[in-house]
Amino acid sequence: MLDLTPDRASLDPIETASRDEIAALQLKRMKWSLAHAYENVPHTKASFDEKGVHPDDLKTLADLSKFPFTTKIDLRDNYPFGMFAVPREKVVRIHGSSGTTGKPTVVGYTASDIDMWSDLVARSIRASGGRPGDIVHVSYGYGLFTGGLGAHYGAERLGCTVVPISGGMTERQVQLITDFKPQVIMVTPSYMLSILDEFRRQGIDPRESSLAVGIFGAEPWTNSMRGEIEQAFDMHAVDIYGLSEVMGPGVANECVETKDGLHIWEDHFYPEIIDPVTGEVLPDGEIGELVFTTLSKEALPMVRYRTRDLTRLLPGTARSMRRMEKITGRSDDMIILRGVNVFPTQIEEQILKCAGLAPHFQIELSTNGRMDDMTVHVECTITSASEEARTASGKELAHHIKSVVGVTARINVAEPGKVARSEGKAKRVVDNRNRT
Ligand code: DLL
Repeated sequence: MLDLTPDRASLDPIETASRDEIAALQLKRMKWSLAHAYENVPHTKASFDEKGVHPDDLKTLADLSKFPFTTKIDLRDNYPFGMFAVPREKVVRIHGSSGTTGKPTVVGYTASDIDMWSDLVARSIRASGGRPGDIVHVSYGYGLFTGGLGAHYGAERLGCTVVPISGGMTERQVQLITDFKPQVIMVTPSYMLSILDEFRRQGIDPRESSLAVGIFGAEPWTNSMRGEIEQAFDMHAVDIYGLSEVMGPGVANECVETKDGLHIWEDHFYPEIIDPVTGEVLPDGEIGELVFTTLSKEALPMVRYRTRDLTRLLPGTARSMRRMEKITGRSDDMIILRGVNVFPTQIEEQILKCAGLAPHFQIELSTNGRMDDMTVHVECTITSASEEARTASGKELAHHIKSVVGVTARINVAEPGKVARSEGKAKRVVDNRNRT
């Protein structure tokens, strides 16, 4: 693979600033952000008052722990525009994330918020190995989802040529990759696997494609999956993280030269890790729930937003800003099967150990008497599709899951193409448990 380490001189100065400089900037911006939210969002004022805190109480970064959390419920309760800190006329863009039920979570941006977001996605693409002049194929969905437009504005800001294809029409994706020869693709890792299958179906060698970097996010994926994709395409696979409530893609990104977790763009987002049960702040290095306070956002400042994502904070490496470890899962994705906590990413890792299996999978939960059962639906590879090979792969996977994850799973090894595909975020768990 090509060495795509960016030239030090092309980085934003703050990316390599000292920790003291970063902390000083964070404190100054945090004071502004808390005051801005308190003065302009009635919900924030009420929640600060109820806790007996005022923005002036923030003297150091550690004082943030005295302030109340914000959750998705607060956004729902103030649907659609009640959390905005600027008059609606100043909001130039709305995005939203579709919940599993009911109304979307609505977020808004001023022109200056869009500007900051574009800068940070440009920074993320550069960290991933993209360069001005590259062609960037954007297969994240365009629409209320922040993936497509977020990637788009950032790629333009970096000076790239953007192909805004959005998700879907997989045959067409492969055609345009072959014809336009992009260096960079931005897409969910699960949809990248569908694109990979389509390359093979059309008899095109993916390793011969022009792609040098894939910037994958919007859903959890493992280092084993990274290996699989890098090998299949002879390209770098880099992780991008973000969430609509905090901004969208580009809150944190891996650096192509280290691929050792995601550097959080701490000049705009202040991270904390908390104990998800007690809400206590945990020291760096301990795993817990990731919480963000925005430092510069105008339309939708967020104070201590609880992401539900589980990770830990690590010191900077390729950049001075702290890293977050690759996300293993969300607290709401966790399956508790007969008392054992299971994340879909753990199942993904075990599948990738089995040579006869392809990494398309879905986990089905069902009720068996008073017990919960887990069935993993997974596909065999084309070369391991015989009855005997499928039985052997199923046994192998059941064994790995039992010995590493610690639960008994039924395995259904389906033929290639039989497990549901997504064109955006994959739905890994189907819960058919009878709750009565
Ligand atoms: O998924 C924003 C995004 C778009 C990020 C494109 C990266 C690329 P939401 O739809 O609001 O926003 O979903 C946010 O997705 O809280 C995580 O649970 C999950 N997520 C996002 N990126 C990653 C990642 C976009 N790299 C939620 N690894 C977040 C694991 C991720 N999970």
